[in-house]
Amino acid sequence: MARIFRDYADISLGEEELCGKIDFEKIFGRKGAVHVEIGSGRGTFLVNEATSFGELNFLGIEWARRYYRYTVDRLGRWGLTNVRVIRTEAAGFIAEYVGDGTVACYHIYFPDPWPKKRHHKRRFFNDENLGQLLRSLSAGGIIKLATDHADYFEQMEAVVGRRGDELERVDFMATAGVSAGEWVGTNFEKKYRKEERAIYTLAVKKIK
Ligand SMILES: C[S@@+](CC[C@H](N)C(=O)[O-])C[C@H]1O[C@@H](n2cnc3c(N)ncnc32)[C@H](O)[C@@H]1O
Repeated sequence: MARIFRDYADISLGEEELCGKIDFEKIFGRKGAVHVEIGSGRGTFLVNEATSFGELNFLGIEWARRYYRYTVDRLGRWGLTNVRVIRTEAAGFIAEYVGDGTVACYHIYFPDPWPKKRHHKRRFFNDENLGQLLRSLSAGGIIKLATDHADYFEQMEAVVGRRGDELERVDFMATAGVSAGEWVGTNFEKKYRKEERAIYTLAVKKIK
C-alpha cells in the first residue's frame, strides 16, 4: 500500500507564497544565518543539521515530488521550526528568488552525475550556476560539495578553479549526526559507501 505523506504547512514552502526575492526572516519567522541544501533527497542532512544547529535556518530544494513529500512529512514529525522545503528546480529558483548576499552556506551532496557526455550540460554544478551561488552567498559564505563521481568531481574542481580569485579552498567539515567515516551521512552516501565507492568532497569560501 502506498505510504501517505502528511503536509506540514510550517515546513512546506510553496512558490505561490513568494513574491520577488525571498525575505528569509519572514519565511522562518526570525533572524538567522540561512543554509540551503540543493537536492535534499529524503531529508537526512536537513534533519541532522536542523536538530543540531537550532540557531540556523535551513531551506531544502528538491524537485522530485515523492522525495519532497517524504521530507516534509519527516521534518514535520520531528517538530522542527528552523527548516523549510520547497519543491522546485534549484537553478531557476535561486536565480529568481534568492537575493544577493542572503545565504551563508550551500550544501550540494551527491547531485545527479548525468554520466553520459551528451547529458553533462544537465549537471547542476556548472559555471552559470556557480555564478548564481556566489551572487547569493554572503561574504565569507561557504559552498560544500560531495560526490562519488570522479568525472563530475573533476568538473566541480574546474568550475571552482575558474572563479579562483573569488574563492578560497577550506576544509570540508563533516556534517552533524554522521556515522564514523562519513562526510554527510545522506542516503546516497550510505548507499555508495556500502558499494565501497570513493567519495570526493570540496568546500570553498567566498572571499570577495
Ligand atoms: C542523487 S540524489 C541525492 C539526494 C541527497 N542529497 C543525498 O545525498 O542522499 C539527487 C537529488 O537531487 C534532486 N535534484 C536534482 N537536480 C535538481 C535540481 N536542479 N533542483 C532540485 N533538485 C534537484 C533529485 O531529485 C534528487 O533527489
